[in-house]
Parts: sequence; C-alpha cells; structure tokens
Amino acid sequence: MITLDESIAEIDLTSLKEYCLGGFHWNRDCTPDDDFTNMNQEPGVVPYKLYSHLSKNYKRVADLGTYYGHSALACALDPNTQVTTYDLYPDHRAIKEKENIKVVEGDIFDYIDDILEHDLIILDIDPHDGIQEQRFTDILKQENYKGVIVADDIHLQRDARMQAWWNNLICSFKKDITSYGHSQGTGIFKI
Ligand SMILES: C[S@@+](CC[C@H](N)C(=O)[O-])C[C@H]1O[C@@H](n2cnc3c(N)ncnc32)[C@H](O)[C@@H]1O
Repeated sequence: MITLDESIAEIDLTSLKEYCLGGFHWNRDCTPDDDFTNMNQEPGVVPYKLYSHLSKNYKRVADLGTYYGHSALACALDPNTQVTTYDLYPDHRAIKEKENIKVVEGDIFDYIDDILEHDLIILDIDPHDGIQEQRFTDILKQENYKGVIVADDIHLQRDARMQAWWNNLICSFKKDITSYGHSQGTGIFKI
C-alpha cells in the first residue's frame, strides 16, 4: 500500500531541473528555472511531487496530456519507472529528452491497448469538461483495467462538469487526494 503523508513535500525534484527548457508559458517568457520553480511547488498547489511519489512504485506509467512535459518529468523522477506521455500536439512540449520517457504524439483514444499496459495512469486531458474523462473511464471499465488512475482537475472551478464527472464516477476505490495534489482537485481511483 502506498502511504500519502507530509513526507511528499520533502521529495527532491532537483535532478529534473536540467530537463526543463523554459519557453512562453503562463502568458510570459519563462526560463528553465521558472519552469522548475513551478514544478517544485508544494503538494496541494501543484501535483508534481505527488506524481513522483506515486510513480516510483510502478514500473510503467502512462501520462495522458503532456503539454509542457512537467507531469511526464515528475513521473520519471525514478529512473526505474518507464513513462509514456501522450498528447495530440507536440508544440508545447518544453522538456529535454529523458531516457525513461517515451513521447507519443496522437490521440489517446488511438492508443488504448498501449495505455492499458501501464500500471498507473495520470489523466489530465483538456478541455476538462468531463466528456473525454467519461469516455476514457467507460473504456477502462469495458476493458476491466486493473491499474490505478489519478485524475487531475476534479474540482476545476471554471467548469463544474469535471466535479460532476468525479461525483458520478462509480468504481471499486475512489479517494480525493487534493491536499497532496493540485489545488484544482486530484482524485485517485481503481475501476
Ligand atoms: C492540462 S494539459 C496537461 C498538463 C500536464 N499533464 C502537466 O501537468 O504538465 C492537457 C493536455 O491534454 C492534451 N489532450 C487533450 N485531449 C487529448 C487527447 N484526446 N489525446 C491526447 N492528448 C490530449 C492537450 O493537447 C493538452 O496539451
């Protein structure tokens, strides 16, 4: 069993700093240090230390929604964890190549068989309206997926449909772990 406690805040992400490229993020020009500073914020604000903490317990992690690449980096903190990160668009990616990160450019729904091979799935796909999330979890149920899923933005303020999706999700295990994850809500569940 994986314990969630205050020790998550002590996770040292420093080794990931060299993989941050910086770029135009959050409506401003960011240095690699700015990117790392964002990633390195405490649990309950951003989910990256939580992702590192969880991922080190798994051999294969699927990161659904690469964007700048920060969730992929966090999941890949432990070199023994193999991370596959998926996104429709490669243009935002702002991380250097890392040996234990495989980048897939495409729609997650075209890679379902591959994704099911992973033991932990981080689900963070825009636009966070509950529609893709519902479609994806319906597939996981249909395929009787046995792994663990972490969903970002379950309490998203700008779209109540994420909260509705989370509230209506029926599964064997479901826990709100926002206090260790993202300020906009983090949930963990098993189908
Ligand atoms: C919120 S961002 C991911 C942020 C990233 N997980 C992080 O924390 O660093 C969401 C990403 O999901 C991608 N996305 C949305 N729908 C997708 C789909 N069906 N397949 C693959 N990627 C998708 C978007 O292109 C966007 O880059």
